[in-house]
Amino acid sequence: MSQKQRVNFGSRLGVLAAAAGSAIGLGNIWRFPYELGQNGGFAFLIVYLLCALMIGWPLMLSEFTLGRMGQSNVAGSFRSITHVKHWQWLGVMGVGCALLIMGFYSVVCGWTLEYVYQAVTDGFSGKTPTDLSQAFTAFSSDTTRPILWMLLFLLVNCSIVLAGVQKGIERSAKMLMPFLFLILIVLCVRSVTLPGGMEGLKFLFAPDFSKITPSVVLSAMGQAFFSLSLGMGCMVTYGSYISKQANLERTALEVTGLDTLMAILCAITIFPAVFAMGIDPSQGPELVFITLPTVFNQMPGGYLWAILFFLLLTIAALTSTISLLEVITAYISEELRWPRKLTAILVSLLIALLGVVCSLSMGVWGEYRIFGLNFFDLFDKFTSYILMPLGGIGISLFMGWHVDRKRLELELSNEGTLKLKYIKVYVFLLKYVTPLAILLVFINQIVGLF
Ligand code: PHE
Repeated sequence: MSQKQRVNFGSRLGVLAAAAGSAIGLGNIWRFPYELGQNGGFAFLIVYLLCALMIGWPLMLSEFTLGRMGQSNVAGSFRSITHVKHWQWLGVMGVGCALLIMGFYSVVCGWTLEYVYQAVTDGFSGKTPTDLSQAFTAFSSDTTRPILWMLLFLLVNCSIVLAGVQKGIERSAKMLMPFLFLILIVLCVRSVTLPGGMEGLKFLFAPDFSKITPSVVLSAMGQAFFSLSLGMGCMVTYGSYISKQANLERTALEVTGLDTLMAILCAITIFPAVFAMGIDPSQGPELVFITLPTVFNQMPGGYLWAILFFLLLTIAALTSTISLLEVITAYISEELRWPRKLTAILVSLLIALLGVVCSLSMGVWGEYRIFGLNFFDLFDKFTSYILMPLGGIGISLFMGWHVDRKRLELELSNEGTLKLKYIKVYVFLLKYVTPLAILLVFINQIVGLF
């Protein structure tokens, strides 16, 4: 594989759009704001920022470097760098993790399409908060409708991956990401300027450090992994498509920064609007699907804002699912030498199957529980609290301790042609801070269980 020239993203903007597209997703718009609302607002934000900077950035840079050095899919990249074969299992675990994430993520993607449809057909207007809450529960626990939307979403997703790395992934990201930023900025300005919106900002920026418990730290870390698409090979796979001339140090910093900026902008968009309408902000996953439609109902011009918001959610979700499908497709098609297109279709079918299981677990299969969780929550928690951090420890140990420092620096500096600005900080964080921080949070959590 490494002898043949690997397909590359065609431009610097393309790399940025694709990687930021993977990172920016439901994690930023759907998950981050409710985690923030539930876990102490500003205090959570601080912990999150620390995680993004001290764990997220070094890991993202390591994943890009690993992929570009290895010139292969996530497992193949490990193999082409080291003779110690066992490291590749870390890559295989990542592929499994991508599959599980897709299982529950695609369900929420289906919901976003339903809500675009509801917004366009003016389906929220005249409904009370109780009506909206009942409508969401009825819809999400239904046996067919959410599944049909999910299948439609997966179809679009698969067709983009089928078009290939440059013509599908890169081109769609370059078209969709600027649009995404534009919508978010418009929504943000509208929300902050609502009468009463300042209360929301006060809530957001008033620290309540008493809420910072070990489990909140674990949530912040899990959220950082999830939001930055780390620990499971997404950035390794995309890294393998980054050209040898690109500046990896800078790209990783930009993607981490953009993703964090988006998460904060989303929170700044959601909380003022919620407060302006006098609604309780600390709701869970329903925040976006119940609270926000209530907010739009009461807002002047809400019809349009609702369409824009759910469109934003759908686009963000799509650029992320593309990267998840790509991790699995690249792995299977390269390892088993299956045709890429056929692989993408078969993997999408498998994802659809998992998605059906997760969707039904919100309704008729709700009584099947493992560790007290339905399949949807199980997939969600198992991936972001366990598999992604474990993958993160593994990758930081591999790049920080196993790979020769000289070799790492040569790859990062494009064979000595770039001056590395943060190499010392990076290596220090990677060797000591990242693995230890992840491990500590982990142990704390496990001790807490007993
Ligand atoms: N980062 C994406 C989000 O925030 C989710 C994701 C996780 C995408 C892992 C790819 C890999 O929604």
